[in-house]
Amino acid sequence: MARLDVTETFKGITFPGHLHTQESLLYATKFNFQDTDILIVTFPKSGTTWMQEIVTLVSCKGDPVKSQTQPNWVRAPWIEQYYCPDVLKASQGPRVLTTHLPYKLLAPALQGSKAKVIYVARNPKDVIVSYYFFHKMANFLNDPGPFSEFLSSFLDGTVHYGSWFDHVKGWTGNSRNIENFLYITYEEMWEDLRGSLEKVSRFLQCPLLEQELISVQKTCSFNTMSENNMVNYTLVPQEIMDHSKGRFMRKGEIGDWVNTFSKEQSHNFDVVFASKMADSLLTFVWEAK
Ligand code: A3P
Repeated sequence: MARLDVTETFKGITFPGHLHTQESLLYATKFNFQDTDILIVTFPKSGTTWMQEIVTLVSCKGDPVKSQTQPNWVRAPWIEQYYCPDVLKASQGPRVLTTHLPYKLLAPALQGSKAKVIYVARNPKDVIVSYYFFHKMANFLNDPGPFSEFLSSFLDGTVHYGSWFDHVKGWTGNSRNIENFLYITYEEMWEDLRGSLEKVSRFLQCPLLEQELISVQKTCSFNTMSENNMVNYTLVPQEIMDHSKGRFMRKGEIGDWVNTFSKEQSHNFDVVFASKMADSLLTFVWEAK
């Protein structure tokens, strides 16, 4: 099983080599979705782990045992990562799946499916900063170099998993082709966690009693998740993620980008954003209120 090397692409996109092979990516594009599947879709650093925790907890009616005993990549595996088939073979009950793949790569597999798709988007300036710091602590990724270079690669769509712009526009612009689709943002979850949990619970048709809702809210808070080694990636060996260089659960804020972007970088970003998103109705919250 040959892992992808740094410059190797699949359909024009590079992927972190320690988790992906040409075969695993092909497997994802031909994935056999079941109507009972729940698929969490994100561009990296948009709140993937948070939504994995929320879906786990909502599905368990607020019982925290699963989220405290099973790593997130076991209870909601990424379909494009090489270990997915083995995890699914060993699992029982309705499946929770995750993907960072762009819509165009999964469209054929999802056609006609009743799987429930949850798309989580986050304001891209915070995505870039979160992704940049993640590259610094993740030893399986190349050193990102100066922030200005990483920002250019992000805007060019040459970072791992490709273009953020194509990702959000591909999934949201084609949502009418997906029978069960929920769009939610990191910022909405952050500003109104309770309302967001109610939205997810309605979408998943998993109604929650008041006490169950309170339990979900507590277990998926930033503080609780930061201490939960089933989601904070401290179980991963240091050669893969070096927690002395940073934390996976880094800050969990809206608008932290101002601490890394210069005024000029922010302005240049806004120009590119306005041009690339001109054909999209999506809006983002850029700063916490
Ligand atoms: P920061 O690096 O800005 O702190 P992903 O899971 O898609 O890789 O996203 C990781 C980002 O989501 C990190 O952002 C992380 O701190 C944030 N995050 C994870 N759980 C969160 C929570 N419960 N509340 C707020 N942010 C959370």
